[in-house]
Amino acid sequence: MKKDELKMQDRYNSGEKWRPLYHFTAPRGWINDPNGLIFYKGRYHLFYQYNPKSCDWGAPSWGHAVSDDMIHWEDLPVALTPDKPYEAHPEGGCFSGCAVEKDGTLYIFYTAVAKSDGKIVQTQCLVTSADGIHFEKHPANPLIREAPEGVKGDFRDPKVFAVGSKWYMVVGASIGEADHGGDGRIFLYESEDLLSWTYRGAILKSEGKMGTMFECPDLFEINGKWVLTCSPMNHPDYNKALYCVGDMDFEKGEFHIEKTGNLDYGSDFYAPQSFVDKHGNRVIIAWQNGWLWMPWCENWGPTGMEGWRGVLSVPKKLTLLQDLSLSVYPVEEMNVLLKPEQKETDFLVDKTRHYFDLTDSRSCYLKFRINGSRVAARNLEIGLFGEEERCVLITLDLIGGIVVLDTRHSASYNGRVINCPFDSASGQIELEIFVDRSCVELYLEHGKYCITTNVYPDEKQNKIWICTPYKTAVIDELEIGTINNMWENSPAVEISEKTI
Ligand code: FRU
Repeated sequence: MKKDELKMQDRYNSGEKWRPLYHFTAPRGWINDPNGLIFYKGRYHLFYQYNPKSCDWGAPSWGHAVSDDMIHWEDLPVALTPDKPYEAHPEGGCFSGCAVEKDGTLYIFYTAVAKSDGKIVQTQCLVTSADGIHFEKHPANPLIREAPEGVKGDFRDPKVFAVGSKWYMVVGASIGEADHGGDGRIFLYESEDLLSWTYRGAILKSEGKMGTMFECPDLFEINGKWVLTCSPMNHPDYNKALYCVGDMDFEKGEFHIEKTGNLDYGSDFYAPQSFVDKHGNRVIIAWQNGWLWMPWCENWGPTGMEGWRGVLSVPKKLTLLQDLSLSVYPVEEMNVLLKPEQKETDFLVDKTRHYFDLTDSRSCYLKFRINGSRVAARNLEIGLFGEEERCVLITLDLIGGIVVLDTRHSASYNGRVINCPFDSASGQIELEIFVDRSCVELYLEHGKYCITTNVYPDEKQNKIWICTPYKTAVIDELEIGTINNMWENSPAVEISEKTI
C-alpha cells in the first residue's frame, strides 16, 4: 500500500470514487469490527479493528476516532497495538472488545490473541485510560486466561456492562472449532471490581441450530426486556446479525428467549456493537462488510486499489417494537446531513422509467410512502447506480411482501440477490433507501426490516429511476435528496431529548 494516510477531510476530497462520504472509513488500510463504543467525558469514542499497514486483515491494532454527535468524526492516534507476549503474533493481535467507565476511568476489554505450542490462544485482557487518549495495558493481563471446558481456541470479543452494583461480561465462543463444525456459545462472567471474573455459565447454546461460533456478543436491556445479539459463523439461514429478545436471570445465569430475529438481511452487516448515547438511546454500529468464509463473499471489492478497505455503518438506534422485534434505523443526528431536493405527493409511476434529478445521485436518499391499494402493478422497480442496462435493481413486491435487491448487474464485483420479507398486509408501506458511493441501505417500516450491502459501480453509473413492470402505481409521498459528507459545513447537532 503506497498511499499516505488521509486526514478526515481529505478522505472525502480524495477523488477515491468508492470512498463513502458519511460512513466512517479508516485513514488508510484495513478496518473491521467497531470496538469500545462509548460516550465518555462528553465525547463519543469509536475504536475499530485496524491494520494501517495493508488493505488485508492482519494482527489488529485498535484505530480510534472521537465525535461530539456520532456523525462528524475526528481521528485520534491508534489506541492499542499488539506489543505484549500475549498478543504479539502475526495471526494474533488485539481483537475485538468494548469499553466501560468506572469512577472516571475508561476500562477497555479486548481479546488478546497469541500462539503457543502451535495453537492459537485467546485470552481476555484489560487496558485503562484516565483521559480516553492514553492507554495502559493492565499488569494483571490476561484477566481471563482459561476458556470454559470444551473450547478449543475460539473464545473472544468480551462485552462488559453493569447491572446494579455488579459487572457482567459476555464472551463469544465455540465448543469444538468454529471452522470445523463447532457449536456456538455465549458465556457469562461476573465481577465486583472489573479485575477478577467468575464464570457463570452459557447463556446461549447453538446446539446445531444457530451457528458454529458466536462472534461479538452483546447483552443489554431495552424497555424491560433483555436483548442478546451476536454474529454467528455458519448460521443455517445465513443470519449474521442475530438478535434474541427475552428475559435474563442473572442469579441463575440463564437467558430465556421469547423471540429471535435478524438485524439486517444484507450481505454487509456484521459484528454490530451497542452503546448508550447521551440521551439514553441504545445505538449500534456494525462493520459493513463480510468475511470470505461467508458463502456469498467472493472478495472485498476493488477499494484496495484506492488504498482503503472496510466501512463502518452509520450509528443506528435500536427500538423494541410491540411484537418484541427490533427496528434498526439511523440516529436522528444524521438528519443534519440530509439535503431535501424534491417532494411529491400522489406521484404516478408507470412502465416508462422516471429518472430522478439529484445533485449527487451517488450520495443520496429516497423515501417513499406507499398505500398498497393504489398500486395496480403489484411490483415497483427502482434502479440505483444506473447506466444503460447496468444498475442495482430493487424490486418491491407489495403483495408477496418481499423486497429483492439485485446487485448482479451493477458492477463486476460480488453480484448478489438479497431477499428481505416485510409485512405487506397493512397496505401501508414505508421504504427508505440510502446511497453512499459504495454503500446501499434499505429500510422498510422504519428499520423493522433492513438490507445493508456494498456495490462498486463506475462513476458514470449515476442515474436513479423508478418504474413498474406493467400497469401503474401511485406513491402517496415521495422525498428525495442528497446527503452531505460528514465533515463539511455541518455544525455538531444537538438533539434535545431521549427519542425512544
Ligand atoms: C469478527 C471478528 C471477531 C474478532 C475480530 C478480529 O468480525 O472475527 O470475532 O475479534 O473480528 O479482527
